Amino acid sequence: MRSQLWFNAPGSAGDHKRRRIRQAGFTTDDFQGKPVIGILSTWSDFNTCHAHFPQRIEDVKRGVWQAGGFPAVIPLQSVSESFSRPTAMLYRNFLAMEAEEAIRSHPVDGVVLMGGCDKTTPGLIMGAASAGVPAIYVPAGAMLRGHWRGATLGTGTSTWQAEADYRAGRLNQAEWEQLSQASVRSTGTCNTMGTASTMTSLVDALGLCLPGASSIPAVDAEHGRMASTAGRRIVEMVWEDLRLTDIVSPASIRNAVITDMALSGSTNSLIHLIAMARRLGIELSLDDFDRASETVPVVCNLMPAGQYLMEDFHFAGGLRALLTVIAHHLDLTTLTVTGRTLGEEIAGARVWNDDVIRPIDNPVYPRGALIVLKGSLAPRGAILKRSAASPDLLNHTGPAVVFHSYKDLHARIDDPSLNITRDSVMVLQNAGPVGAPGMPEWGMLPIPRRLLAEGVRDMVRISDGRMSGTSFGTCVLHVTPESSIGGPLGLVRDGDLIRLDAEGRRLDLLVDDAELEARRRAWQAPSPHYQRGYGAIFSRHVAQADEGCDFDFLSRAGTTLDPEVH
Ligand code: FES
Ligand code: MG
Repeated sequence: MRSQLWFNAPGSAGDHKRRRIRQAGFTTDDFQGKPVIGILSTWSDFNTCHAHFPQRIEDVKRGVWQAGGFPAVIPLQSVSESFSRPTAMLYRNFLAMEAEEAIRSHPVDGVVLMGGCDKTTPGLIMGAASAGVPAIYVPAGAMLRGHWRGATLGTGTSTWQAEADYRAGRLNQAEWEQLSQASVRSTGTCNTMGTASTMTSLVDALGLCLPGASSIPAVDAEHGRMASTAGRRIVEMVWEDLRLTDIVSPASIRNAVITDMALSGSTNSLIHLIAMARRLGIELSLDDFDRASETVPVVCNLMPAGQYLMEDFHFAGGLRALLTVIAHHLDLTTLTVTGRTLGEEIAGARVWNDDVIRPIDNPVYPRGALIVLKGSLAPRGAILKRSAASPDLLNHTGPAVVFHSYKDLHARIDDPSLNITRDSVMVLQNAGPVGAPGMPEWGMLPIPRRLLAEGVRDMVRISDGRMSGTSFGTCVLHVTPESSIGGPLGLVRDGDLIRLDAEGRRLDLLVDDAELEARRRAWQAPSPHYQRGYGAIFSRHVAQADEGCDFDFLSRAGTTLDPEVH
């Protein structure tokens, strides 16, 4: 075992490691010859989605002890989606590096990855993939459903609706407060099919957590039982030498893409799944998602594309049940952390509510829920969640109203003199990985108050940023290459005609080549946001959205050699 490199190193090196473990009150028998399990936790008081982790860590530890392992908690940065500024996305790669190096530098034989809030899932998986050791994921689980005035409140989705109602004068401040409190009944991740639930579901489809674990509500006693079972299982995985790199294959990545489409998963999942796959040398492109979307209908009826929430999904059978519905699209021979195949793990699963998990012939959305657009405005691609867009805007040509930054957007959006109508195409520049920086979730641009009052709820909006997985609207996202590295989005001016043709998969700037060329020559790159620190590393090394926004020096297969122990 890898940990023996530390504990059984010759002479004083090994003595020192054993001595220091004893310092914490352990006897040699507690750890000697046992699989050492690192519990990588993304708990902090600022990650309120993970507020139950202190108890879950105890649950995992119990399982590790029971199975004859030695548990060791390693806290990592918690990358709270709610509190990390400028955006949690800036820190996904930081977490991935931290996870990888924490594993590499410590005497661990296997790891339990504890995350769930948006970026924590891909961050932990990317790091563990590069570290190469046996790993099992413990998804945080979603928070309970919200209820207010007879309506069900889904995280995020209800927030955006409330904000629009408030801005339109249909909800007062006190009511907004009540609604807000009613929407957060417990710890746990966002309860819609936002980024958190999408990513934990995909991890489940990849076989990296106990099958079906992804939908267990955070505060359900079953969640604690799942955590201790994961603790027991990781010890066995170490003895079996069953590594993350043995479990994730091109076929399992394809299964995850298919599952993503059936879920109508968060648009963020494209970036994360590409980044995760590339860490293992598996090629995955935007076109793979577009193709999968063409063949797989949305059968999961969860907000924002549908009606229900994660709790409903769990009691309808959860991910295992959903996988039975799309089984004919999947490769069921892929491996899971249990050592059994995905097919074996979903055998016997049933759908208990066929409005929450629809039959394949009665989908929530027929096909093409998520599409990839290319054209003169997005040479390397952009994405549109068609299932969350307005059908009447899917084939639309309109004049651009350009905002040069998020600050500019908020300064002018409600300016009565802004020349904008419901047919305008709103463009936000400099919201990309380098430009923003960190590609924040600014892609659901607010509708101007004046138009809201007229009843307008959606417009075509285009940016190189992302959108929260819980959002909706005709928002073209992830335009690549981004504006601030010279992409054509940065050349758009007020009044330019932009054509969105969802059926034809096109996004075009209807400005002639000579004019564009002149603008390109006059274009100047914005000055860098950071002169020093992590931000400077990020801006220098981050890849574009179509390549997963990983760092260039991390985005490849293979692990770095274990350190010498002194
Ligand atoms: Fe943590 Fe949504 S804010 S999962
Ligand atoms: Mg989010």
